[in-house]
Amino acid sequence: MTHPPFDVTRFHGLLRTDAFGRNLIFEPIVGSTMDLARDAAHHAAPEGTLALADEQTAGRGRLGRSWLTPPAANLTFTLLLQPPASVLRQVAMMAPLAIVHAVEETDVRATIKWPNDVQVGGKKLAGVLIESEIEAGSTSVVLCGIGLNVNFDPRAHEETRDIATSLAVELGRNVRREPLLASLLLHFERLYVEATSGASMREAWRDRLATLGQQVRATMPDRIVEGVAEDVDETGALLVRTADNRLVTVEAGDVTLRR
Ligand code: BTN
Repeated sequence: MTHPPFDVTRFHGLLRTDAFGRNLIFEPIVGSTMDLARDAAHHAAPEGTLALADEQTAGRGRLGRSWLTPPAANLTFTLLLQPPASVLRQVAMMAPLAIVHAVEETDVRATIKWPNDVQVGGKKLAGVLIESEIEAGSTSVVLCGIGLNVNFDPRAHEETRDIATSLAVELGRNVRREPLLASLLLHFERLYVEATSGASMREAWRDRLATLGQQVRATMPDRIVEGVAEDVDETGALLVRTADNRLVTVEAGDVTLRR
């Protein structure tokens, strides 16, 4: 199925943010928007710059995975941020929250799978990839990449058939991408401004985490931890209660649910 290309003029007409998405770099096709945004950062692009593409030939996900980006079906972008140190780790919580809020406006209720996947009925709707660079003088650049399945049919691809969903699948109709992106950026900017003013994202993010209370297997760089996902700490790390009653902190990696 072919989809209409992203309409940049329509998007700008709908955008209500102060900074997020105001400087837009749109490419019909790129390797990865992460590289597009990094290049923009190296050329002094302002905070809130959005690198958006209709198609990626080398989209990447967390933990070295690849990310499938068929032409003009989904939202595929990277937002350039320069957060103060206190907000750095909170970006990983506000990104999935902003996605959840935006998709709720299409009447799809989504939850978060630790750390920042957005899912519906246990299937992945969106993923977040964060890459950061600490520059001289400790100014940090955070590249927040988001892939949101909008009009994509995961059933058409072997690698997504059993594990992914899209708004079109959930709603039984296609969804316009321009208003959805404008809404997502508005939610994201509001959360970012709140966090910059000292608010913590933890409670709101925790409330949406479907992982808590579940039996999980956490694959860490050096070992595997199994137990019940009991809570998250202020930094976003997952606290897993093992069968021998230890509370193990899982800071990075991935979890699978065990039934
Ligand atoms: C994940 O769930 O593993 C994260 C997926 C992140 C995909 C997005 S699509 C836009 C940006 N560009 C990329 O190459 N990756 C991110």
